[in-house]
Amino acid sequence: MKTRNYIILTMAGLMGLAVVTSCGGGKSGSETTESTEVTEQPAEAAGPSAEQLALGEKIFKEKCIVCHQANAQGIANVFPNLVGSDFLLNQTKLAVSQVLNGSEKVAANKTVKYPAPMPPQLDKHEDAVAVINYVLTNFGNQGKPITLEEVKDIQVIR
Ligand code: HEC
Repeated sequence: MKTRNYIILTMAGLMGLAVVTSCGGGKSGSETTESTEVTEQPAEAAGPSAEQLALGEKIFKEKCIVCHQANAQGIANVFPNLVGSDFLLNQTKLAVSQVLNGSEKVAANKTVKYPAPMPPQLDKHEDAVAVINYVLTNFGNQGKPITLEEVKDIQVIR
């Protein structure tokens, strides 16, 4: 009985898929011909260098500890916890932007309203990337590091 339900469900799913692909297929048929060229990716797959992470650690200790604390866990309802922070882990570019421009200039997901905004911290993209990559890969975080290339279009607003 269970098996039969599963088969019916699978078939329904496949039929749904067939409908979706056949609908979309009509329009985009002509676009597929030109996209054979492989776009070259910069060879940064190795992740942040030891130098970058050392710089990030230095900056964290100088600039961020005051509010986010030595363990990066912040103070509840005052300074957010950076360990497991959805904003840091999943909107990493915005996190870099926030370090450069402060939280008032970054439209982030404000699930918690903090009593004061985060002021701008750094002027250089290199420094912001270094500290964000340091936090992303320490304190128990296992985030995907960001590259300088990915954030170079962020404007520093003063
Ligand atoms: C003066 C205190 C202060 C300092 C210094 C500070 N922050 Fe913040 N930070 C905050 C506050 C407050 C917020 C929350 C802002 C908001 O959402 O309105 C925040 C938010 C963040 C977030 C987003 C986290 C989340 O889940 O919302 C990141 C990432 C972050 N800070 C990184 C840093 C880094 C890296 C440094 C050091 C370069 C730093 N902060 C220095 C106060 C500070």
